[in-house]
Amino acid sequence: MRKINGFIHGGDYNPEQWLDRPDILEEDVRMMKKAGVNCVTLGVFSWSFYEPEEGSFEFDWLKEIVDRLYENGIYFILATPSGARPAWLDAKYPDAMRVNEMGIRNHHGVRHNHCMSSVNYREKIRILDKKLSETFGRHPGFIMFHISNEYGGYCFCDACTKRFRSYLKDKFGGDIETLNRAWWTSFWSHRYNSFEQIEPPFVSGERSVMGLNLEWNRFTTFNTTDFMKEEIKAVREATPDAKVTTNFMCLYGALDYHAMAKELDIISWDSYPRYGNDYESLYETMAETAFSHSMMRSMKKDRPFLLMESAPGLVNWQEYNKLKRPGVHRLACMQAVACGSDSVQYFQWRKGRGSFEQYHGAVVDHLGKDDTRIFKEVMEVSELLKKIEEVTESVVKSKVAILFDWDNRWAIADMKGLSAKTKNYEKTCIDIYKDLLQLGVEADVIPVTEKFSDYDIVFAPMLYMLKPGMADALKAYVRDGGNLVATYLTGYVDDNTLCYLGGFPGDGLGELFGVISEEIDTLYPTDKNGMRFADGSVLEIHDYAEILRVSDAEVLANYTDDFYKDTAALTCKKYGAGSAYYVAARPVRSGRLEVVQKLLEKHGVKTCILPEGIEYHHRVKDGVSYSFYLNSGKEDTRINDVKGYDLVSQTDVSGELSLKPYEVAVIREG
Ligand code: GLA
Ligand code: ZN
Repeated sequence: MRKINGFIHGGDYNPEQWLDRPDILEEDVRMMKKAGVNCVTLGVFSWSFYEPEEGSFEFDWLKEIVDRLYENGIYFILATPSGARPAWLDAKYPDAMRVNEMGIRNHHGVRHNHCMSSVNYREKIRILDKKLSETFGRHPGFIMFHISNEYGGYCFCDACTKRFRSYLKDKFGGDIETLNRAWWTSFWSHRYNSFEQIEPPFVSGERSVMGLNLEWNRFTTFNTTDFMKEEIKAVREATPDAKVTTNFMCLYGALDYHAMAKELDIISWDSYPRYGNDYESLYETMAETAFSHSMMRSMKKDRPFLLMESAPGLVNWQEYNKLKRPGVHRLACMQAVACGSDSVQYFQWRKGRGSFEQYHGAVVDHLGKDDTRIFKEVMEVSELLKKIEEVTESVVKSKVAILFDWDNRWAIADMKGLSAKTKNYEKTCIDIYKDLLQLGVEADVIPVTEKFSDYDIVFAPMLYMLKPGMADALKAYVRDGGNLVATYLTGYVDDNTLCYLGGFPGDGLGELFGVISEEIDTLYPTDKNGMRFADGSVLEIHDYAEILRVSDAEVLANYTDDFYKDTAALTCKKYGAGSAYYVAARPVRSGRLEVVQKLLEKHGVKTCILPEGIEYHHRVKDGVSYSFYLNSGKEDTRINDVKGYDLVSQTDVSGELSLKPYEVAVIREG
């Protein structure tokens, strides 16, 4: 991986679309050099070129290309092509095609539509993956394998059903009564006599058993990860030391990326924010992206991640495919780096002439020139990456964490209650991240199974599900001096989605917070309530309010209205050496920042409210820190108390830093 000094700069390159245009392939190399591209991702969708007919393999076309690239200083990441299958494969092995939630098998076509259980598909890709690693894995230009492309989706076929049953048998110790109890199948007479009776949650079938729906999600992650592991094993047969990644889609709902991440050496993801939309500022769009970057980098905190794909210009699949305004591309690339990426990569190098993505942005478009606005902006990014090259291999270190968990997410989305319109688990996690961002506080976004002791404060928004051992882990964290901030909807269900009896939060967590939630109120958008603090200030709340029984916690704020007026809305209990906060209602944004700031400061986390439009991040390496300041606002903005050397402007800064709109500073702090 460290064959490249400095940042990886490049992206997806599909030369197989241009094999009849050797002039263009030649021109690509010249233009890549001009654009400062030092690495391309090859073979993402090349199966029908590698294996035009079953069992006959052709790699020479790519050998020639990687040799030429390497001679010109361009390295390559090699994808395994399982993301799309050749027509011959589906014709001969229809079981490779996915069955949808109505039980109907897909026809051949499109991509990302495979059955992860198909023995034939697994075998065919195993053979090809092995050959790819034999052929290219020792090439001097080879960097790493990119396993498949954006794994995703569910398959409801017989083979998947069979595997699901065997997964359930393992999970429930082969005892159907254990499963019946865990899934509460006595409800509506839904009990099973045997594992053979269990079906996946077809759209016209069983979708009223929350435990089943949850296990189906878990199984899909298990099965996809298992498939991915087979691909990893195949590429490592010839090159045991080869590094592997797969490209995640950040908040993608159907796969638990925390489970998949364990199998990978490097985390990478594809980022396509809706820049320039008409419902939020650029700062807001970028703040949400920063959450995604933080979650990705938190999956492997000891090393940088890779921005595997991003659009240098526009995309072609959003509701409105708006051009990135001049300067936004550079800013977005710097944001990824600021958040811990050691690469800036694009989808894609060159626009194809036809089919689904013919109008998707690329570094080189149909015009074919190297003096377009986009091309020049890409060149500019390359220059900038060179200037800040010393930042590579540094990492972000945070003292504050936000818990984000896929099981919890699935369980909340599937629970019948509250309001489907306002549950907003993901948004709630992002909102707290945004508050921290605005306060200049770098936050990790971590799974619930992570060690908490590294953090001064852990935010656990809407921690509806408690996994075995979690309540104890949270108690131990606080007892040993940690500070935990939980909210309404904490600890309602166990990891099978069965409600705890005796009060929420369950599993003994009531003792940690000194409160029990007796009821939860779902507010209509026009309902008004608030939480009043001792100093008389009021923070408006919306969406949800729990009514608490307080046993032994300090009440920090009470409700201002309704029949639960003057009862506790925010509490804190000292527990061992730490504090456990319980925020019983959802505060609106306005006014929340000050409350969060006070809380952070109280527990020793330094904050400062950053000027509007300014985003701040921080990377460290060998005792040297790099502070990134990004201005996504519309105004020239000054930031105080900045000291160090700005790698971008190549000047010393002492005191005040001034940034024009879309400008970036990377300050080395000694
Ligand atoms: C995804 C895919 C790419 C391409 C882009 C388009 O990220 O991985 O192959 O389709 O989307 O935005
Ligand atoms: Zn299947």
